[in-house]
Amino acid sequence: MPAPNIDTIVSLAKRRGFVFPSSEVYGGLGSAWDYGPLGVELCNNVKQSWWRWLVYERDDIEGIDSSIILNRLVWKYSGHEATFNDWLIDCRKCKGRFRADKIVDNKCPSCGASDWTEARPFNTMLQTKLGAVADDDPAALAYLRPETAQGIFINFLNVQTTMRRKLPFGIAQVGKSFRNEVTPGNFILRTREFEQMEMEYFVSPSDDHWKLVDYWVEQYVEWFGSLGINRENLDLYEVPEDERAHYSKRTVDIMYRYFPEREKPWEELMGIAWRTDFDLSAHSKNKLDAEGKRINPDSTEDLSYFDEPTKQRFYPHVLEPAAGVNRTVLAVLMDAYSEKTNDKGETRVILKLTPQLAPIKAAILPLAKNKPEIVGMAKAIKRSLQPVLRAVYDDTGGIGKLYARQDEIGTPFCVTVDHQSLEDEAVTVRDRDTWEQERIKVSELADHLQKRLKPYPVTAPE
Ligand code: GAP
Repeated sequence: MPAPNIDTIVSLAKRRGFVFPSSEVYGGLGSAWDYGPLGVELCNNVKQSWWRWLVYERDDIEGIDSSIILNRLVWKYSGHEATFNDWLIDCRKCKGRFRADKIVDNKCPSCGASDWTEARPFNTMLQTKLGAVADDDPAALAYLRPETAQGIFINFLNVQTTMRRKLPFGIAQVGKSFRNEVTPGNFILRTREFEQMEMEYFVSPSDDHWKLVDYWVEQYVEWFGSLGINRENLDLYEVPEDERAHYSKRTVDIMYRYFPEREKPWEELMGIAWRTDFDLSAHSKNKLDAEGKRINPDSTEDLSYFDEPTKQRFYPHVLEPAAGVNRTVLAVLMDAYSEKTNDKGETRVILKLTPQLAPIKAAILPLAKNKPEIVGMAKAIKRSLQPVLRAVYDDTGGIGKLYARQDEIGTPFCVTVDHQSLEDEAVTVRDRDTWEQERIKVSELADHLQKRLKPYPVTAPE
């Protein structure tokens, strides 16, 4: 049973230290969120899982970390300065301002009227100024990147030559992106500052790009499965031409059921696009337009590739799986949410995060916190586990409360130290999902937990 709606996760996230509304002491900042002690661990675990899967476990992908602020010309030639727009309309009756493409049945979402101004473009790149310059100096204008992808394209040759790569190969990058969204909202689903996990996969112009989009869609559906997301809560959307970005010849969005309570439950989790050779050509000094003029007179490089077997030079085509860290985290939290009723009829929340994603892998709990020998033993066990897995010690309540707290934050195992432990050098290991308990020797505990914490295979668990 996944979460019934996003609000359930908002409240759990705040109550248990995953995500807090940002700048709350000053009344907050619309649609900005801060990740707390458990949220930052969950985000890191998602990013590490992605990096391990693509950069370590495959042989054809390298990783980079490029600047957030790039030369403004990058955004001129990528097409973002001219086209990275949302279309705005104003309601003449209530003066509300909205994205034209989000209006349903031509009705104002605030007042219900249908009296609109003409739609006009609004560039959503966030601007800043570099250096100690006058406010209106146009030469100082710079942008916070709206996608991590461009940092990859402009480094294509650097990576290809230094790592001696031949096509096909990919470059992965994870990092913050910024968009001055007109209508941010729905918790961490749409914010102005967010994090992306993008990979640009470079192939020959003669490859079957249509099939390659399908290939990456399948790969990502499997990867989401390995994060514990049920296949039934994912859907595929073939994006029609009029909704695609200017560089794309085909895009398939993987959608997640973020709004199970609504008639239209799906929203984009990530997109997989065939970007053609648009970006590498656009940043290259040698590429000519139809009239034989250089399309980029500012570039000092040619980002083409010489293919040894065919003795041909060309601009590689690109398949781009672009995922959001925050949207993945939200989908993971919603899918992991479950409720269980205990013998006393009390309903408990259990966050069934996969072992790989759980912020804390084991909680070490003393049964009697006023007994120094038990406390000492529990703390020693915590310290001995810390080098191999994330463990915490907790004695801030009775054992029932402590179990409930760990269930709610997704900790796979609770390890309880009791009076008997002082004699038999063994502890009780309690499973989060079944609530079954097992007695394990302290000397075997690290091995036992590590075996049970193995990442899920890249197919959806039952
Ligand atoms: N480089 C291609 C690109 O950026 P996109 O569909 O605009 O494509 C990719 O963004 C992913 O980044 C989205 O599927 C989503 O997961 C995430 N994303 C985009 N805008 C976002 C926002 N305002 N807030 C949170 N995540 C966002």
